[in-house]
Amino acid sequence: MISRNCLIISDLDWVTKAIENLLLKEGFNVYTAKDGSSGITIAKKIPIQLVITGMVMPGLKGDEIIREIKNIDKETVVWVMTEEKNFNLDFVIEAMKLGADDYFVVFKDLPMDKMRKSLVNFIEKMELKRRNEELLKMVESKETEDEIQGNCEKIRGVLSIINKVAPTDVPVLITGESGTGKELAAKAIWKKSNRKDKIFIPINCGAIPENLLESELFGHEKGAFTGAYASKVGKLELANGGTIFLDEIGDMPFKLQVKLLRFLQEGEIERIGGSKPIRLDVRIISATNKNLEEEVKKGNFREDLFYRLNVIHIDMPPLRERGNDIILLANFFLKNLSKKEGKNIKGFSPLALSRMKEYKWPGNIRELKHKIHRAIILSSGELITAEDLGFYTSENRITLQEAKKQFEMNFIMDALMMAHGNISKAARSLGIARQQLQRYIKKYGINVEAYKK
Ligand SMILES: Nc1ncnc2c1ncn2[C@@H]1O[C@H](COP(=O)(O)OP(=O)(O)O)[C@@H](O)[C@H]1O
Ligand SMILES: [Mg+2]
Repeated sequence: MISRNCLIISDLDWVTKAIENLLLKEGFNVYTAKDGSSGITIAKKIPIQLVITGMVMPGLKGDEIIREIKNIDKETVVWVMTEEKNFNLDFVIEAMKLGADDYFVVFKDLPMDKMRKSLVNFIEKMELKRRNEELLKMVESKETEDEIQGNCEKIRGVLSIINKVAPTDVPVLITGESGTGKELAAKAIWKKSNRKDKIFIPINCGAIPENLLESELFGHEKGAFTGAYASKVGKLELANGGTIFLDEIGDMPFKLQVKLLRFLQEGEIERIGGSKPIRLDVRIISATNKNLEEEVKKGNFREDLFYRLNVIHIDMPPLRERGNDIILLANFFLKNLSKKEGKNIKGFSPLALSRMKEYKWPGNIRELKHKIHRAIILSSGELITAEDLGFYTSENRITLQEAKKQFEMNFIMDALMMAHGNISKAARSLGIARQQLQRYIKKYGINVEAYKK
């Protein structure tokens, strides 16, 4: 139960007394003041949820009181009172503009009925706000959502390495197929490290063209190249003191590999066009879904850099090798995402469960999460069915044409999901032109924004 503190500011004792009685009955702690400035002194010391103040009093005027109170905490609800002889519409409008939430006209007596109603309303709103805040905390509690879920042997091995390496500053290389949780693992290392209060900067080396990537990572001096109108601090410099996550490191161009190696060896970088080295203290976590040893053999990746990055190696297992974790994760996502979507879904149908366990999950956990999210949105029942998840069953009798259409839609949505909503990338993976993909997106009413991280 949150505190309910109310402050009454009035120079009329009988008014104060009457309101105080009403509020005490409703369980408020009541503070009183005879003029604006002593009221404000109280509000500065004690968090007040409701202020009821007169408008015309000796000392501070109502408008100044409203402004001050809202300044202290703009969430504080302010009601104003005025005697009938002072009342006019402009007055009320002015008070409301300043942030007053309600007003009462005093004529011989207080408008008790109206006050009571407003009070009930106010209490309801406070309750709602509190419940909402609680819910938000639960849903958004990044703590649990960002935690690596799982119980299989392989993931327990991963967690134990994470716990061991996190407090050290050694570079970690995380490998694994797309969607297996590499970024999540990198964040877990950061959160358990001594650098947890410092910045964590992810950068996707595969998504940025070579010429931009260099300046993204190392920064540049003004005039270093055409278009460098101002100098720019690179991500490595920004991450100083903290952690940088070099995602898709296998896609880093050879030339930049040399620069990165130099940083790993000497702890120094140089901005493009810069003349003096900059010393940095940055922990490096990198990830790739490529087989870097193969890339080294093929001559695409520098061997010396590979060894520098690969001091500790963590391999994220594909979902299909995680046994019952599939079901564990499915339930975890169902719980979180159905709450977010405001749906009350109790679980999965038996067929849905067995189909999930049989399926190979090429997109791994990202795909599972996405399929469950989609199923939650589509589902109208208490249980998620195999069809909701996009699996075909003999029970869903649809025409071939319908099935083709569904398959096409799901296939396209999956490609967009894997490409994090990057249309060009998704089109490439589908082997179609960008424009054609755009036509499909329109045809199926797909919300591409939802796939962007
Ligand atoms: N073990 C896990 N528990 C809960 N969620 C996970 C787990 N692994 C991955 N996820 C979720 O799956 C999605 C893909 O994970 P991500 O770390 O981006 O994979 P990768 O970097 O390997 O492609 C993210 O939404 C992430 O939160
Ligand atoms: Mg990733």
